[in-house]
Formats: sequence, C-alpha cells, structure tokens
Amino acid sequence: MITKKYEVSNDVYDKSIVEAANILKSGGTVAIPTETVYGLAASAFCDDAIAKIFIAKGRPQDNPLIVHIADISQLGEVAAEIPDEAYKLAEKFWPGPFTMVLKKGERVSNSVCGGLDTVAVRMPNNDIARDIIRNSVPLAAPSANISGKPSPTTANHVIDDLSGKIDAVIMAGGCSVGVESTVITLCTNPPKLLRPGAVTAEQIREILPDLVIDNAVLNQLGKDEKAASPGMKYKHYAPETEVVLVEADSKSFVSYVNAQENCCAVCFSEEEALIDVKKICYGSITSEESLAKNVFSTLRKVDDLGVKTVYIHAPEKNGVGLAVYNRLIRAAAFKVMKL
Ligand code: TXA
Ligand code: MG
Repeated sequence: MITKKYEVSNDVYDKSIVEAANILKSGGTVAIPTETVYGLAASAFCDDAIAKIFIAKGRPQDNPLIVHIADISQLGEVAAEIPDEAYKLAEKFWPGPFTMVLKKGERVSNSVCGGLDTVAVRMPNNDIARDIIRNSVPLAAPSANISGKPSPTTANHVIDDLSGKIDAVIMAGGCSVGVESTVITLCTNPPKLLRPGAVTAEQIREILPDLVIDNAVLNQLGKDEKAASPGMKYKHYAPETEVVLVEADSKSFVSYVNAQENCCAVCFSEEEALIDVKKICYGSITSEESLAKNVFSTLRKVDDLGVKTVYIHAPEKNGVGLAVYNRLIRAAAFKVMKL
C-alpha cells in the first residue's frame, strides 16, 4: 500500500480535507493531527475500518480506542447515557486534551471499545481534525505509532512508523501539547482519572470534587490486578536503550550521570551546561508544558546515541508534570532510582 501525503497549506486545504474525509467514509485509515499527538483515524461505526487500525499498529485487541467528535451534538451519536457532569466537563474542557468514558452508544463498533460496554470520547482542539470529522463521521483514533513506541508528535514520526501500512497522512505541523489527552471515567462511583494529561486532576476537581486517581497511573499493576484502562497494562513509549528514571535534585542528578559510563542523560535546560556525558535537554524545570511537548520526540532520539543506558531526570508529579512522569515511568518499565 502506498501512503498518500496530504498538505494543508491554504490553497489545498479544502481539497485535502474532502479527500481525507472520503477515504474515512469508505472505510480507510488516515493519520490526523491533534493538539496532543497524531492519531490514526478510522470510522468509529465500521468494524472493518477499525480492524485496519489494530493491524497497522500491532495493537492488542482488548485495548480500546478513543472516539473523536467535532461538535457537542455528536456526543449522543456515540454515547448512550450522558450525565449532567459530562456536559459541564465538555463545556469547560472541549475542544481540548480531555477524554470522558461514558456508556457506549449502539452504533459504535464493539471493536472500538475492546468488548467493554463503555466508550471513551473527546473533541480535539485542532481545526484540521474537526473539519475532517465534520466532513465524515465520528473517528476512532489511537496515537499513530507502532504499539509500544513513543507517540508521534510530528507527521514525520507517523511516516517513520506507519508508512505503507495506512491509506494517508495529513502533513500538518508539530503538536502543541505533546502528551495524550487526560482520560477520566464517569462510569465508576466515584469518578476516576485513568490517564493524566494536560487537563490536570486539580482542574477537573473544580467540577468533580470526588475524582480519584487510579492506582495504575503511578504504580505497576500486580499480576492478578485488572486494569480500569486496558492501555495502562502494556509496555509503552519505550526506546530499545535501557531507560532509568531518576528522582533527584539537580545537583545530585548532574553528579550521578557525570560519574557513569556508556550512558546519556535526558535533562532540564538548566542542567545542560553542567553535564559531561551525552545529553538531550527536554525542556525547562520551570515549565512542565515544555517537558510534555518534547518528551516523546526525545524518547525517539535516544536510540540514535548508541549508549547502553539513558538516565532521565524525572519531573515533579504535580499538574502536567504528572502526565510526563506517567509516560516516563512506562518508558522505563517502572525502573526508578531515587537519589
Ligand atoms: O490525545 C489522545 O487521547 C490521542 C489523540 C490521537 O486523540 N489518542 C490516544 O489514544 O492517546 P490511545 O488509543 O493511544 O489511548 C487511549 C487510552 C488507552 O489507555 C485506553 O486504554 C483508554 O484510553 N480507553 C479507551 N477506551 C476506554 C474505555 N472504554 N474504558 C477505559 N479506558 C479506555
Ligand atoms: Mg497510544
């Protein structure tokens, strides 16, 4: 299969949107930009189209997908019961990096939901994504990477992973947020945060004061524990190189990595000049948003350095830092060192 590339500069915008929408309406797959990461989209209503996503990504069948909508009026097409809180949350956080798990609507393909009776829904804050949905149907879209690899934050990351395996890619710019959306479920009592993202637990608690954080956000599930969010149990975001996540102040981090051999440091910009081994800076200690934006592209660069071990300086676990920490601890297969 040859993967088509659609540009979105002004003179070809409308044509690209219509052609991408036509591929999706006829059961094909298109990688689309969103504000979080690129998504691999297919019609949420078509079993055959959804099967193509799982095959292209090599994704386990029991890991459900997020359904993307363009307007609040579409929520009723994909969810069966919509509590008042859902409308309040939608008003505050949509369009944006926020996903709600609700009771599944009948039309949504069972394979989207991995056999569950619930569906995850979000409205992305990206005009291209919403225009494609408006011209087609609600779209199931997981991150457009090979399962297990870091999520794609540029169109070229998508091409590196999926060229030849999907029908088309929209060649838009980099993603402004850089980590996947926050996922909460309204199908448990109390409601639960399943995956942290740029919309923080603190912000959600202004509407849902009793929101709890699922155990799997920061801890490895035990062998017999069932994942509330199936995606949480899989190895994720991992380079080939051994990854160790380091919790330390700047001074201890710098002196530790400088004493190691055959390694690379993933550090904050404030530390860069002090580090003598190979290094990649992934943002500023004062801006969790900058760390979120760069974390996946940094993980994609690590293997090119040809070292045995990469030591990553962990962010604080507050605000958006919690989302970055959640991705890094999975990239490190839960190998954490506290100095
Ligand atoms: O930002 C994002 O959310 C990106 C962009 C493309 O929109 N999408 C994304 O999708 O990250 P994906 O498939 O890589 O992650 C979906 C997550 C998984 O952890 C999955 O287990 C969880 O959402 N999920 C989906 N449906 C669920 C459900 N019904 N119940 C519980 N968790 C669910
Ligand atoms: Mg993913």
